Amino acid sequence: MDNYVKEYRDELTKYYDELKWLYCELYENRMDAFEELCRIMYRCYQERKRPLKELDTLRKENPDWYKGNKLLGMMLYVDAFAGNLEGVRNKLDYIEECNVNYIHLMPLLDTPEERNDGGYAVSDFRRVKPQLGTMEELEQLADDCHGRGISLCLDFVMNHTSEEHEWAKRARQGEQEYQERYYFYDNYDIPAEFEKTVPQVFPTTAPGNFTWLPDLNKFVMTTFYPYQWDLNYQNPVVLNDMISNVLNLINKGIDIIRIDAVPYIWKELGTNCRNLPQVHNIVRMMRIICEIVCPGVLLLGEVVMAPDKVVPYFGTVEKPECHMLYNVTTMATTWNCVATRDIRILKQQMDIVNSLPKEYVFLNYLRCHDDIGWGLDYPWLMQFGIGEVSHKKYLNDFLTGQYPESFARGELYNSDPASGDARLCGTTASLCGIEKALCEHDESALNRALRLDFMLHAYMLVQSGIPVIYSGDEIALQNDYSYHEDPRRKEDSRYLHRGKFDWNLAKERNIKGSVTERLFGGLALLEKIRQSHSVFGHDADVWTTETWDNSVLGIIRADKKEKLVALFNFSEFDKTAWINEDDGEYTDLISGRTMAAKGVDIPAYGVYWLMK
Ligand code: GLC
Repeated sequence: MDNYVKEYRDELTKYYDELKWLYCELYENRMDAFEELCRIMYRCYQERKRPLKELDTLRKENPDWYKGNKLLGMMLYVDAFAGNLEGVRNKLDYIEECNVNYIHLMPLLDTPEERNDGGYAVSDFRRVKPQLGTMEELEQLADDCHGRGISLCLDFVMNHTSEEHEWAKRARQGEQEYQERYYFYDNYDIPAEFEKTVPQVFPTTAPGNFTWLPDLNKFVMTTFYPYQWDLNYQNPVVLNDMISNVLNLINKGIDIIRIDAVPYIWKELGTNCRNLPQVHNIVRMMRIICEIVCPGVLLLGEVVMAPDKVVPYFGTVEKPECHMLYNVTTMATTWNCVATRDIRILKQQMDIVNSLPKEYVFLNYLRCHDDIGWGLDYPWLMQFGIGEVSHKKYLNDFLTGQYPESFARGELYNSDPASGDARLCGTTASLCGIEKALCEHDESALNRALRLDFMLHAYMLVQSGIPVIYSGDEIALQNDYSYHEDPRRKEDSRYLHRGKFDWNLAKERNIKGSVTERLFGGLALLEKIRQSHSVFGHDADVWTTETWDNSVLGIIRADKKEKLVALFNFSEFDKTAWINEDDGEYTDLISGRTMAAKGVDIPAYGVYWLMK
């Protein structure tokens, strides 16, 4: 027997009982459907190219391959960054110059020209959007990336399809079999029941969770936009076909699958239709399926939820689910601290994250393609008498530049006057004040803004896990207001920070003293330091330290060889970190200065990485 087939059989044997049990529990012993799933898995395994199987084997031998301090990610839109897939291939040198070895390409599968939610309304899971290239080009790009040691991440949009997907079209033509792949209702009775308990994702841009289809005389469930029809995972055919779709994609050479909007995939009347136990059942099955078919592939869960809902998506040590999750609360809390200059809640948040098992790998980020939702620890804030609605208003006022003296230029997202809730958009550079300072030719404000931007990145790079830069942030790309003019986009302010990558601006990274050069060069230095010191690795212990100044965050990392005391001043004033590490001289890895880690004076928006 071929060695690989034996390996497949061994893995299948290892997981078979659990997989069958999970499947049969979900689908009431539909053995025919389970057998079909097994056939899909085997077929996809046979189709998997030998070099990918070799990579699987290497990664199986070193299952921690993604965990250390060597991985640095970047997320980007293919068209905004380089026009198309071929363009991205030609820009791999630049990616490497950014010290990046993991790229997340934003959704690139086929979608309708309009009504596509930035690629998250897929009309064909087997086809690349023609403007961006072909499946062969995707495969070629993956090969090239692998040749350079770069991993590739793609989205798997599993909660819904576009209304133009073949299944949706056939459902619309009245084919029962395809209607059963979605949630259809003849009248509003059941939808009305759902609406009593299910919150809204886009309360302003797409209110409600159902859409009326006049041609069919039916309602269809649409948790996100009306043109994104929720798939019905209570139907095993949907799960089987979607597994087949994702394995097909993985076989093009994808290393990391971002499972989009995963908490939403199972719906039950009378619940909030988020994070239901069946979701975990499915994610666990996906993990098992990957272990059997493509064990080198990682699952990244997009779980934008409260912390107690996020962590369960790691599963347990014996029965893991996702390999990686977004550190979403830390991200939102970071921007909270930019607006308040008070780090206490961030310290508290880090203490929670640092107390989790080291097996849990978080993806750290400052900005991504979505809005910043203010999912903060409100019960904790309440001890200071800070209420949720008024606090969100302050954050939004500050970060949209409405608040006196604010330097930030963001825009609101899905502002809901009824609940007083709103989220926020904007690029890192614009939120940090670079846009305003440049506009007003204010040199000292510019210096301050650059320091803040740099400090935030230094903070992101000190956290445990995998840092991911949002493409454009490394060159201080500002907000793109052109979406206001685009009728297809103007309602969705997330396009504010989804602008075209500016290659002329990028060129300035070679012009000494330019804004781009200062930031790009600064980040490169931080990235190199992170990669070359073991203390940034996965095994290090990490804890926060009291600085006795509410604007200065102190983090300590230590492993057997090294100790790092990192200090971050979140305020526009010079401060002193009243720490007292009584063990002699430290060297700041960033400036090269030596100092004691005692009563450290730290300038406005300053950062120190003090190494022992
Ligand atoms: C995820 C994506 C977001 C999209 C939504 C619906 O949250 O990040 O951009 O709108 O899923 O697919």
